[in-house]
Amino acid sequence: MKGIVMAGGTGTRLYPLTVAVSKQLLPVYDKPMVYYPLSTLMLAGIREILILSTHSDLPRYEQLLGDGSRFGTRLEYIEQPSPDGVAQAFLLGESFIADEPCAIILGDNIFYGTGMQKAMKDAADKADAGHATLFCRWVKNPERFGVVEFNKHGSVISVEEKPAHPRSNYCITGLFYYPKGVSRLARKVQRSPRGELELPSLNAMYMELGLLDAEVLEHDFTWLDTGLVDTLADAAAFVRSTQAETGRRIAALEEIAFRNGWISKDILLDAAEQYGKSQYGQYLKKIAEN
Ligand code: DAU
Repeated sequence: MKGIVMAGGTGTRLYPLTVAVSKQLLPVYDKPMVYYPLSTLMLAGIREILILSTHSDLPRYEQLLGDGSRFGTRLEYIEQPSPDGVAQAFLLGESFIADEPCAIILGDNIFYGTGMQKAMKDAADKADAGHATLFCRWVKNPERFGVVEFNKHGSVISVEEKPAHPRSNYCITGLFYYPKGVSRLARKVQRSPRGELELPSLNAMYMELGLLDAEVLEHDFTWLDTGLVDTLADAAAFVRSTQAETGRRIAALEEIAFRNGWISKDILLDAAEQYGKSQYGQYLKKIAEN
């Protein structure tokens, strides 16, 4: 199973915050935003991950994350010359995916909750069996999102992007699993009226084939889309209060790698050292020593 993190786009909804800084590098309390989606893939056991971003921002991701070995992963980077839609990742990343199943996560999405790993394991099993899975969530304001509609048997019967008149309150979150062959199907996606290769068009193809499943995330999960100033502030407040309450850091990549058995105590200590006297570095040191 391969993983892709979408860290491109223009971030115009966050201007002026993102005039000079890539959205997914903005802080969400104590870490850059990209740590969170990366941690979601790592918690699902995915170690080979492609980071997709713009020409100007890509070097900054490489500076931040390197080759990923510090946290037990193998990272590759690819440029998306212009934000031509999320489905383009499967074309640009075709050789990276190498005809394996692939999970893709939007770089501004945060998932937190104990059942997440099980839900992702189920999606991975379905991907092995040829099915795509999207994760959705009941929301009050579905018109802001992609929206999925179910029939009475729980099968997906429509997917629409930001509809003016949503057919349900189930919005599509920014995490998807696809079976092998996704790049071949993505090649058939036509540009939408706004000129993008949109993920909903790809999802609609899987739906037509009877191969699209939707996993509903219940409200004991936290899902945050940090793409607006208010939701970004909410996400920072959530991370701060949850970490204070639990004494555990969310999206501490090196800790996840250590607990997954991907890196040794020495590598964890080295990483802690590199973060210097920061609270994050001190936290990693404590994890290694205990
Ligand atoms: O967060 C959930 C929502 O995310 C879903 O409900 C929508 O169906 C989905 O389209 C998306 O909506 P957004 O309005 O948040 O999409 P946005 O254009 O902001 O892109 C989402 C992320 O993907 C963002 O981190 C930037 C990145 N991106 C986007 C495009 C279009 C890229 O890296 N390249 C792109 O070409």
